[in-house]
Amino acid sequence: KRSKPIPWVEVDDDEREKRRKNSLKRNGPMVNGNDHSQNGRQHKKARLSYGNPSNDHGNPFGHTNGREANHAGPSSVPLNPAAQAIQEQRKQLPIYLGRDALIEEIKRNDVTVLLGETGSGKTTQVPQYLLESGLAGNGMIAVTQPRKVAATSLAQRVAAEQNGPLGKVVGYAVRFDEKSSPQTRIKYMTDGMIMRELMSDPLLSRYSVVIVDEAHERTLRTDLLIANLKRLQKHRNGSSDAKGKGNSNSSKPLKIVIMSATLDAEKFSKFFYNAKILYIKGRQHPVKIYHSAESQPDYVDSAMRTFFQIHTDQPPGDVLIFLPGQEDIESLEKSIDMFAKRLPQDSPEVLVCPMFAAQAPGKNAKVFMSPPPNTRKCVLATNIAETSITIPGVKYVIDTGKCKEKQYLARMAGGGFDTLLTRDITKSSAMQRAGRAGREGSGVCFRLYTEDAFNSMAPSGEPEILRCSLTSSMLQLRCLGQDLMELDLMDAPDTDAICSALKTLFIIGAFNKQSQLTPAGRHMASFPLEPQHACAIVASKEHGCSSEVIDVISVLSASSKLFLDITEQRDAVSEARLKFRHPSGDHLTILNVVHAYQEIASSEKKKSRKEWCRKHFLNERTLVEAREIREQLRQTCTRVGVDYTTSCGENEGPVITCLGHGLVANSAFLQPDGSYKQTMGSSFVKIHPGSTLSDKKVPAIIYDELVYTNQIYARGVSSIPKSFFAKHHALSQRAA
Ligand code: CDP
Ligand code: MG
Repeated sequence: KRSKPIPWVEVDDDEREKRRKNSLKRNGPMVNGNDHSQNGRQHKKARLSYGNPSNDHGNPFGHTNGREANHAGPSSVPLNPAAQAIQEQRKQLPIYLGRDALIEEIKRNDVTVLLGETGSGKTTQVPQYLLESGLAGNGMIAVTQPRKVAATSLAQRVAAEQNGPLGKVVGYAVRFDEKSSPQTRIKYMTDGMIMRELMSDPLLSRYSVVIVDEAHERTLRTDLLIANLKRLQKHRNGSSDAKGKGNSNSSKPLKIVIMSATLDAEKFSKFFYNAKILYIKGRQHPVKIYHSAESQPDYVDSAMRTFFQIHTDQPPGDVLIFLPGQEDIESLEKSIDMFAKRLPQDSPEVLVCPMFAAQAPGKNAKVFMSPPPNTRKCVLATNIAETSITIPGVKYVIDTGKCKEKQYLARMAGGGFDTLLTRDITKSSAMQRAGRAGREGSGVCFRLYTEDAFNSMAPSGEPEILRCSLTSSMLQLRCLGQDLMELDLMDAPDTDAICSALKTLFIIGAFNKQSQLTPAGRHMASFPLEPQHACAIVASKEHGCSSEVIDVISVLSASSKLFLDITEQRDAVSEARLKFRHPSGDHLTILNVVHAYQEIASSEKKKSRKEWCRKHFLNERTLVEAREIREQLRQTCTRVGVDYTTSCGENEGPVITCLGHGLVANSAFLQPDGSYKQTMGSSFVKIHPGSTLSDKKVPAIIYDELVYTNQIYARGVSSIPKSFFAKHHALSQRAA
């Protein structure tokens, strides 16, 4: 039976109305007064665009003139009814009214900052407008995204809007996956991918427009990209003299468009010499906000109770629940499914749709479909549903107030590393989340935190560059002949983080003592991997075990874990794992699984492969993805002269040695009391209970990552001979 209902406190209506008026210019009756009055101020400062839509756009619906045909979609192809419907939808987006003004402004300015609420049509429409208006010339338009899922799903949508197949005019490029062709004109890509392109094309000369989307998220790669765009735009747009000569591809001018869903435009504008800021008026309906009267420490349980309160008491409308991560999503999915079965016969059905970055693209697509009749869709999402994505049908939002954020722990661990920590969201996120309820009509948002808690939230998030490991970026920049410390960045990183990155790069042999790039370091940077993992592959050349090392690294690079942990069946799980278990620990256990799966995959049908994975509590998606990653890594190996076919056979010792080269900063020695002390840091760690080594005591370990719960656990652990450190110890002493 349902436990007692959660008491709610509604945000005062009068108060909200006042706040709404404050933010009228934004045309978004959002929720929090304090933030909004601030927003109002920002608006005044910035120039308003867009008051002047050309007259044939006065009525945006039902145009039939010839010019219109050019606007929306490729005009040469006759449109079938479905394609026509898509074109109609395009015209109904808020951004459509400002189309001409927008094109005009982008034409006039080298850099444009574009703000608009989620769903106004920025990401899907702006690139098409630029393409259709000929503004991109014969260059490509890049649209960068912080997340893979967003890049691929947007490309799919926009390809449909262009009435063509994905990968032709509209394509995408994300790590380990690319769909594009020589005809591609609009390319959705992750910010990491375009940074990678800088290596082969330092001026990004194939692109005439780079659109940096979701810039407000300030990911490390977005920041580095923005810094590089500023630099290379100077180069490309240089003096009009150079342009007049038009001597080479690289002198073609570059347009930059920075897009964001929140009101932090000033900073971007300042960075680009006071670039013009444009606003798109959104279409936001009123959202009623409720805060819980008391704090809700068990937010998963509270979310479930709130969902059923809505389901039984509220009119139809889908529900979107924001949770920090995959684990919480999966556990809530289970409990909602379980309770839904116990609802009275006549109550509407419940359809739960989880959504998180590591989920297979096909599964995420389910979120966008309309549920069957008499069914309430309940989407369980991480903050990927906060901005990049619009989910139709949502009328209710439940906000747990939590998110997972990458956090760099420079001081705690010797080498420094990133870990995902669950933490409170920012005010800006809370407002975005509530806004998801008002996309199609008025909505309701239930916040599982008190109004006081809301008031004490930070206004907006800290840029990643101030809180993440810089190792990978530093290596990449050095390959571009750049120095992180000399780059013109929006926010400069902390010296501690820089030192720690330099130290790690030195220890893995990517930099020499003078912090110069080594040939091995250049090879490492060619791999689309963390330098520590790339280092293991580069080292495998010398140890004749590239095949095995690549197999292990492929699984470690997949977006979800290989081993499924099902708490209720813990015994069955460990029983099933037994046959893969390798005495040296988790890495070679992974290798055993990969080998076993390869055998099954070569002889068995798809269905029995699935069954085999299920029986052994293995995530087949990880294995399939790992196979694709392996293919890509092999291609890189060929480029940098590593023979990926060399194998060490049964003698697997060298595999651990290679991994050790990469993970040397992630190592620890056994202490008399049974704990492990980091070799290069001062923390004591325990082996994670999920590890094959959890009940073993070995003299020295390497590990993939540390996780913080009540203590520090090492996860992905292997035993490594202490003698391995003889060489590295001297190095690390020097590095320290
Ligand atoms: O970038 P912004 O949030 O301003 O909007 P958008 O991503 O361009 O999306 C505009 C609209 O396109 C959404 O409101 C959806 O109606 C539609 N869309 C869709 O149907 N499927 C997608 N994968 C993406 C967008
Ligand atoms: Mg967008």
